[in-house]
Amino acid sequence: MKKLRKAVLPVAGLGTRFLPATKATAKEMLPVVDKPLIQYAVEEARAAGIEQFCMVTGRGKTALVEHFDVAFELEATLRDRAKSEALAALHGAQSEPGSIVTVRQQVPLGLGHAIWCARAFIGDDPFAILLPDDLVLADKPCLAQLAEAYYETGGNVVAVTEVPHEQTNRYGILKVGSDDGRLVEVTGLVEKPDPKDAPSNLSIIGRYILLPKVIDYLSRMERGAGNEVQLTDAMARLIGEQPFHGLRYEGRRFDCGDKVGFLEAQIAFALKRPDLADAVHAFLKNYV
Ligand code: G1P
Repeated sequence: MKKLRKAVLPVAGLGTRFLPATKATAKEMLPVVDKPLIQYAVEEARAAGIEQFCMVTGRGKTALVEHFDVAFELEATLRDRAKSEALAALHGAQSEPGSIVTVRQQVPLGLGHAIWCARAFIGDDPFAILLPDDLVLADKPCLAQLAEAYYETGGNVVAVTEVPHEQTNRYGILKVGSDDGRLVEVTGLVEKPDPKDAPSNLSIIGRYILLPKVIDYLSRMERGAGNEVQLTDAMARLIGEQPFHGLRYEGRRFDCGDKVGFLEAQIAFALKRPDLADAVHAFLKNYV
């Protein structure tokens, strides 16, 4: 079994649900408290042993790469002014030289197409996918939990959670075989099924560890839900060929691609911060 070192971050989306905020800024640069979504994803990946990143970007997304660069003038100014706290805050925003590459998804043909655009980076290795819109608050980072399941099973693993039945048409949904309460055997996958056709209410969230074989199926460029090349459809073809499991991770997931989910994430993450929790708790009382 190969060690997991690589992660793909699909970040080409237009962020239409957050206009006008995302008119001139990447949606993955929106902060939860004081850290952009992209940095949460990168830090979570690092905590799972990821060393190499591929951002699948698009036009107008250069800030995502800038964010992890050395900010020489800013750092020099902060050092001159002895702003040590501000300097320390920059720490997680700097990457190892050469650890981030980008490819462009030139046309928005879906998540499966975005992952296929990273095929040269993936090569013959297992890889993680993190969708930065999905933010998980957990004691042990979600991808680290998933990596443990990968090393246990040696196959494909996706993070899963139960959703209200009427919401199955927003997610990739599992058909479930054996289930020990933590790991579930995946016997089928359907992208955004109508509640009446959904095989369960167990949905995929934006954390995956996949074997490189999935690229072969993505290369076929078959269109699925929404006339897009769906990652879920290519993953479904691996079932029966390779081990495939869902992991009920421990933690709370926030859909930061949605306004309400994004606002809830601000509150939940602020309440976890020792420097902010008391003040936030105090003002929240005024709103209920
Ligand atoms: C994507 C995937 C879907 C998954 C979801 C998780 O959908 O296609 O299978 O459940 O992410 O957030 P999207 O949110 O891009 O529509």
